[in-house]
Amino acid sequence: MMKWLSIALALAGPSQAALRFGCSTLSIQRLDPLVEPGRLPSSHVHQIVGGNAFNVTMEGDIGEQGSCTTCTFSEDFSNYWTAVLFFKHPNGTYKRVPIMQNSALPNGINGGMTIYYTQQDFFSNGNQKITAFKPGFRMTVGSPTTNNLNDAKGHVGLRFVCLTDKNTRFPELPDFPTKPCKGGIMTVHHFPSCWDGKNLDSPDHQSHMYNTAKEAFSPAGPCPASHPVRMPQVAYETLWDTTQFNNMWPKDGSNPFVLSYGDNKGYGTHADYVFGWKGDSLQKAMDSSCMFNACENGRPLKSQNVQAMNKCAVKNMVNEDLDSWLKVLPGQAM
Ligand SMILES: *[C@@H]1O[C@H](CO)[C@@H](O)[C@H](O)[C@H]1NC(C)=O
Ligand SMILES: *[C@@H]1O[C@H](CO)[C@@H](O)[C@H](O)[C@H]1NC(C)=O
Repeated sequence: MMKWLSIALALAGPSQAALRFGCSTLSIQRLDPLVEPGRLPSSHVHQIVGGNAFNVTMEGDIGEQGSCTTCTFSEDFSNYWTAVLFFKHPNGTYKRVPIMQNSALPNGINGGMTIYYTQQDFFSNGNQKITAFKPGFRMTVGSPTTNNLNDAKGHVGLRFVCLTDKNTRFPELPDFPTKPCKGGIMTVHHFPSCWDGKNLDSPDHQSHMYNTAKEAFSPAGPCPASHPVRMPQVAYETLWDTTQFNNMWPKDGSNPFVLSYGDNKGYGTHADYVFGWKGDSLQKAMDSSCMFNACENGRPLKSQNVQAMNKCAVKNMVNEDLDSWLKVLPGQAM
């Protein structure tokens, strides 16, 4: 009896946490240490959040390299990034769209993203072992070369939301909204969560992972034999403040927004992740039973206030103008 009980506890005990937290903007520049390591500048502009070990190249245990992070959890030196949104004026010039903070986060966060590490789905925690990523782990989701609606629909976790206000979550669109959005535009990036158990990365940065979620925060199906290890379900939300451009839409009604690699449909929306939690902090969180803010203040994760998040930054290594009305998108041919 005792023996049965302790086995049951050991099986049921772990793996019930879900993390949702804000990270302020760390940097906006043309660097991509995952897809284009060593290339300064990289081909298109990114917005990056997370730890200050972010650099032209990133190798080894990132959790041991950072000294500050823009995220709520102060042991999370991971980096999270996406392309940047621009508005294309009918006069042919581009203006970078500012990022605003999400709802349900503490006030005063400078731009940035909301990051999720969920288990079964958004509302309930899982009851299976969730294995944290290992030092050196990285992955991407989506591809800037996706150029048609069907393929975009097939990327189930990559969506746009036309916001009425910051709490709008549906409908989720596979491409850009076709009319001005009163509250801005949200981009959502869900990563796959089944790992092959061997490779920290792969040549395409994707095939070491496998997705079994049918949509957004819905429950994911079981992992296949090829990718048997269930990892946290990582997702990003970015809120773009497009409202100042709503009265400048082209007269023909066409969508004026364009992602920083020249995509005015949104089919190629993609995101990058480099794991960098210190020590076993992420595993500890996944093995606990906390939800969202309840995981802060040492229960079990160390956390920091908004002021400390906003203070962390990395040097701009490219030093090009991103904020005027630009004749071309940085790095893109005319
Ligand atoms: C970034 O990498 C360069 C070499 O590629 C190095 O000289 C520099 O110190 C690094 N910066 C930081 C902040 O780690
Ligand atoms: C395009 O329009 C914007 C917004 O009105 C303006 O600031 C910018 O100077 C214009 N650029 C050109 C080349 O006309």
